Amino acid sequence: LDITGGNSRFIMVVGGLGYIGSHTVLELLKENYNVLVIDDLSNSYESVLHRIKALATEHFAAQDRPMPALHFRQLDYRSPCMRSILASYSSYSIGRKASTPITEITRAVPSGFPFSALQRTDSGIDMETDDAQETILRRESRISGVIHFAAYKSVEESIRMPLKYYSNNVCGLVDFLSLLEEFGIKNFVFSSSATVYGEGANCGVPLREELCVHHPETFYDDAGLERQVLPGVLGLTSPYGRSKFMCESILADIARSDPSWSITALRYFNPVGCHESGILGEDPRQKPSNLIPVITTVLTGTKPVLEIFGTDWSTPDGTAVRDFIHVVDLARGHIAALAASAARKIKTPFRAYNLGTGRGHTVREVLQSLEETSRRRIPVKEVGRRAGDVGFCVAEVRRAESELDWRAEKSLADCSVDVWNFTKGRCEPQISDEMIC
Ligand code: NAD
Ligand code: WQD
Repeated sequence: LDITGGNSRFIMVVGGLGYIGSHTVLELLKENYNVLVIDDLSNSYESVLHRIKALATEHFAAQDRPMPALHFRQLDYRSPCMRSILASYSSYSIGRKASTPITEITRAVPSGFPFSALQRTDSGIDMETDDAQETILRRESRISGVIHFAAYKSVEESIRMPLKYYSNNVCGLVDFLSLLEEFGIKNFVFSSSATVYGEGANCGVPLREELCVHHPETFYDDAGLERQVLPGVLGLTSPYGRSKFMCESILADIARSDPSWSITALRYFNPVGCHESGILGEDPRQKPSNLIPVITTVLTGTKPVLEIFGTDWSTPDGTAVRDFIHVVDLARGHIAALAASAARKIKTPFRAYNLGTGRGHTVREVLQSLEETSRRRIPVKEVGRRAGDVGFCVAEVRRAESELDWRAEKSLADCSVDVWNFTKGRCEPQISDEMIC
């Protein structure tokens, strides 16, 4: 394997060519992290890698600085090949036991070395002693952290094909965590979702992380009173939602059993927008079902009208309220989580954070914003509520602000400008003039 980047350390980004992953990889590179991307391209394209590379190259050329390493392996993260990839991102030290102190020589692992023979020692270092040759082999991973985006994400498909979702999102995660543990990689950032709040979201006030916990927790409410919360959540409406809750529970249990893990579950609210260049954006293989991607299909003429699901919610204009967060703000949230973990600012081995803006917008406000930006009318048809929807879902963001030193900076208008820029760049010829307002 040709591994550039010397002996430097890498962040492994699993699912790194998808919508949120690709924007995060670019931000990581800009922050000088070497990045190893694993993606099976089940919902993305290899061209995304070239777009990330082009944007990063431009960024570093403008600053006259060398670009960090960007590696890619097209692979299902559940594949047995993951073991050899992790092995190739490990460094090995060999020392002679006879001479004291032990002299260590770092060199490539002997081919065919039985990794399973490595034993975990009290110091947490993997060691193999060969009495005949008096050698010690120590293995250390060059992967200093993992950001795990890989999952299937369609709520509707998860109801039709639950096993597909539990297999990739939950079983995949369990095996992957065992492998990471084997290699001593215990710094893990997980893509969670506001979906873990289930029907609890409908409470009409910004959602605090304590509304969904995995072990009993004590916290202080806004009046400063001490409260006890028990694990559990109200009304998870889809296998997709349950898969995220299960994954968080598994991660919380692992962290409780072994506090040397540092696990952050980032609960995304409604990620929207794209990179301001218009080069990187949301480009899935799967048919879109989220609001803004559906609106863009109407803007490009692929779909005749936007169906508004529900106009009878108790909100200012009757349409549902969501916390729309720009994907670049979200991407930076992952870097803030890595930095806070490295600086040991996160006090518990498992911690969940809401990543949202703390501000809600109705579906009609989103429509209006995109109409104003594109200067095109978006035809709509009001239909009934979509099964499983909630009327209100907005983040309480104080925990991420104080513990991760992160806050969203971009507005809904910024999201619209960037989405329109990306859409125009890809589909201009299909946009009919008749749609101009
Ligand atoms: P996405 O589908 O665009 O990206 C996921 C990427 O993972 C894709 O590139 C896909 O090819 C890859 N992938 C899937 N299964 C894989 C596997 N087994 N092995 C390797 N690669 C695999 O989705 P996204 O919107 O970028 O979401 C990323 C994560 O964030 C997901 O875990 C999703 O559940 C979560 N999330 C997304 C949203 C949202 O609205 N987009 C909201 C909350 C949480
Ligand atoms: C937003 C609002 C719709 C499409 C989903 C998942 C959640 C998370 C983010 C991954 C709702 C309305 C939508 C349309 C509409 N994903 N809408 N017409 O439902 O808040 O969250 O994506 O974790 O788990 O459930 O996002 O963009 O689908 O919908 O009226 O054609 O727009 O009813 O009120 P949602 P969304």
